[in-house]
Parts: sequence; structure tokens; C-alpha cells
Amino acid sequence: MRTIIGLDELRAARLSFNGTVGLVPTMGYLHEGHLSLIRRAKAECDNVVVTIFVNPTQFAPTEDLSKYPRDLERDLSLIEPLGVDLVWNPTPEIMYPTGYQTWVEVEAMTRPLEGSMRPTHFKGVTTVVAKLFNTVQPHKAYFGQKDAQQAAVIRQMTRDLNFPIEIIVCPTVREADGLAMSSRNKYLEGKDRAAAPVLFRALSAAKTVYEGGERDAETLRRKMKEVLDGEPRAQTQYVSCADYDTLEELDVIKGKTLLSMAVLLGKTRLIDNFVLG
Ligand code: PAF
Repeated sequence: MRTIIGLDELRAARLSFNGTVGLVPTMGYLHEGHLSLIRRAKAECDNVVVTIFVNPTQFAPTEDLSKYPRDLERDLSLIEPLGVDLVWNPTPEIMYPTGYQTWVEVEAMTRPLEGSMRPTHFKGVTTVVAKLFNTVQPHKAYFGQKDAQQAAVIRQMTRDLNFPIEIIVCPTVREADGLAMSSRNKYLEGKDRAAAPVLFRALSAAKTVYEGGERDAETLRRKMKEVLDGEPRAQTQYVSCADYDTLEELDVIKGKTLLSMAVLLGKTRLIDNFVLG
């Protein structure tokens, strides 16, 4: 497995690949969720590239970029046994050199949900992912269902900009108590960690109501809120029952639907979702 930093090295390595290329973009501090994306890429592609880059442009000035967990050595030791061909770990100066001024922005579907709480976030995500797509030129790119809106926005960007790349969205990997794996779970301590499975319980409760035949979206939103309100440490930011592709809030559930939520536990912000239908 080669680990490289520079753009020229990346381009040379890309040219040396034969067959299909799978890309797994990450911000490092890897957990089982990331490893499941890498395993899937390895099973489906001849060559696998993992990128590790804590992208500054997807953090707002109020979000502490410098505190985002980082441990490259540990990440590399987790990736090594999986048979990854190349790890690209560019610097912020390589990705955003002095004078940088080009952005990729998806419009309507970045405004609700996460976009309503983090208005500049998706512009940073789509810009960096477009840059990764342009440099690595993968055939397939792998993202987690955990960041459901991110996956939907990247699917839209890929369609809109005619990237010849298949976007593969892999299931959320969970702890035994249902908490969705996330690099940010590291911040959860004591009583907040104990309270964190409330998101999974709220989603499961709404799913049970749906499976009982309920198709009124507001009833499902109310159900999720009711369960979250039962946990005194949880501060709900939003609950949503939206169309899976457009992310528009629904009145009546018809097709594929995304149940999602964002919740504060102490200072840690958690998101989670289920797909119905
Ligand atoms: O999901 C993430 O880790 C990041 O948003 C991504 C896709 C690697 C872009 O920085």
C-alpha cells in the first residue's frame, strides 16, 4: 500500500492502474463504517484509493476544525490489512492553494436538514468531492448512508456535472446498542454516551409505526420527537420525514422515504437516519 501526498504522484499512480478504480473519500479517524466502505470497494473494483483529508471548507468558523480527531498512523494501520492500493493524504495547501476561488454548489436540496443548521457545509463537501473525483477519476465512489443528505447531494452533483462515476451508498454500521458509528462519537462521554442510542430508538419507533401501515408523515415525525423528548439530555434540532431523492418534506408517504434527525447531547451533535420503502 502506497501513501502519497502530492498531486503529481497521485496522477502518476492513477495512470499506472489497470482496470476499474474505486474511491473511498474520508476525513480520517477511521471506524468500522469506513472499513465497510473499503471492503465493498475492494470486492467491486480492481484498484482501491482511500483519501484522508480533513476538508477545512466544510467546517463553519463556529465549528472547531482544529479539534476534529486525527490519527494518521492508526488510520494507516487499519487500512493496511484490507489490500488498499493507494492512500492519498493531501495537505490543505494542495487542495486549496493561495488564490483558490472555484466552488461547486448544489442548490435546493442542500438547504433543508443539515443545510438549515450548517449553511456553508455542503458547498465545502461538493467542492472537495468534485476535486477528488477529478483527480482520482474513479469508476465508483463509496459513501455511507449515515450521512444521508451528503449522499443525496453527491448523487445530484454527479448527475448534474456528468461525472462518469457510480455512487455507491453503503449501510450505516452501528454499535451493539444501535448508535451509528461516527468519528464524532469520540466526544461522547458518560451519561451522554449512555443516552445516545435514543436516536436509534426514535427511528425504530417511527419505523414500527410505518410498518403497521401508517403513511401520514407528520405522525412519524411526531413519533420520533416523542421518543427523543423522553430523553432529558437530548436536545432535538430537527426530525424529518422526507422524499429519499429530493429531500422535500412529505405529507403522505408514497415511495422511498428518509427518516432523519439531528440531536445535541451535551456539546456533541449526532445525526442518524433510516430509509423506508
Ligand atoms: O463524509 C466525509 O467524511 C466527508 O464529508 C467527505 C465525503 C470525505 C468530504 O470531505
